[in-house]
Amino acid sequence: MASLTRVLTGITTSGTPHLGNYVGAVRPAIAASRAGNTESFYFLADLHSLIKAQDPARTQRSTLEIAATWLAAGLDPAKVWFYRQSDIPEITELTWLLTCVAGKGILNRAHAYKAAVDKNRADGEDDDAGINAGLFMYPVLMAADILIFNAHKVPVGRDQIQHIEMARDFGQRFNHVYGREWFTLPEAVIDDNVATLPGLDGRKMSKSYGNTIALFAPPAELKKLIFSIVTDSRLPGEAKDTDGSALFQLYQAFATLPETAAFAQDFAQGIGWGEAKQKLFDLIEREIAPLRERYDALIARPADIEDILRDGAKRLRERYATPLLAQLREAVGLRNLAGLAATTSDPARTPAKAALPQFKQYREKDGRFYFKLVDGDGRALLQSEGFDSPRAAGELIARLKREGATALRHVEGAVHAGETLVGRLLADVATDELLAALAALAAEE
Ligand code: TRP
Repeated sequence: MASLTRVLTGITTSGTPHLGNYVGAVRPAIAASRAGNTESFYFLADLHSLIKAQDPARTQRSTLEIAATWLAAGLDPAKVWFYRQSDIPEITELTWLLTCVAGKGILNRAHAYKAAVDKNRADGEDDDAGINAGLFMYPVLMAADILIFNAHKVPVGRDQIQHIEMARDFGQRFNHVYGREWFTLPEAVIDDNVATLPGLDGRKMSKSYGNTIALFAPPAELKKLIFSIVTDSRLPGEAKDTDGSALFQLYQAFATLPETAAFAQDFAQGIGWGEAKQKLFDLIEREIAPLRERYDALIARPADIEDILRDGAKRLRERYATPLLAQLREAVGLRNLAGLAATTSDPARTPAKAALPQFKQYREKDGRFYFKLVDGDGRALLQSEGFDSPRAAGELIARLKREGATALRHVEGAVHAGETLVGRLLADVATDELLAALAALAAEE
């Protein structure tokens, strides 16, 4: 099976989504999620939101609204990974491991942190006045989000490019310090074709300008807002400029090409602003009304959304996060002490090197070929499936030796390497023990 490109996007859970978020982020991301050959990850970055939002009820509400928005807009949790960052404790654990390789100097240069310091300086305050360490560490948490699933591509806005570069830097340092390609280095993907939507006053639609149109405002409110869009004072019958018209740009964001052309024609022929606004309202309603209906239904059943998010996180942890963190703990030396050969208090005596785990191949009465993985003390850890030929068994062993624990894709009783069922863990063997044995073997290769 060709390997899939892993695409990952984080959605900060703050505020109520507006049309600009929909056109600039939600709609293109959902279209991309339907593309083949990708494994997509969409998550609610609720831990990130705590840096700014410290009102618990609002944090909860915003998480619900943003989750419902993505589901209503067509994200399919059966086809993509959809989860909440805080449901994956391995992300926070990885954040610490990365923190300990991340250069503080690099974090000093992060745009968001620097802007906060610059503002303090301009105000004659102490450099770090009122800045929490969460803002400073933001890029490390974001790197953990990305690296934990070895994402190849991260679609983001331009303001996030620096964060992706930092994720690469931290991943690379970790790989270097711990001697293996533990992490794929991610790439930012910037889509220049996505429109930035103007707001009611013609500037970019943004919460900080207070010029937004809430995505799921009830129709009457939507209409009122659309009718408040700033226009010039030309009268009906006078030709109007499409250039620089917020109304026109908003129309374009929801229209087909022929519809846009017809609207430009209307402008040239002097359509009245009232009529133009009514057309814009109808057009937006055409796209948003069915989504709003789904959104309202979803919001009314928060427990269902909770189930969807938990299910996503549970499956992801089993498949990727928990096995990876077991390997990383091993890699950095957070290890089971029982794995050390008996030590001596005499430093002059060099302790015997612990025997390596071994694969033992054999044939059963059923004519099939099997192997076991036994640890240095001869205790069996893994019992393989039966294979048709010694070669098939041998190839799998070679792969496990070469790739070590990173070959494993699912560990929960049944053990897989990629899509191949390898075998099962023997009773009372902990997953960590198997991963540690494989890591030890791969380190020898
Ligand atoms: N920082 C991103 C933003 O503000 C949100 C985010 C958090 C994110 N973690 C991420 C984006 C990981 C991409 C990948 O938009």
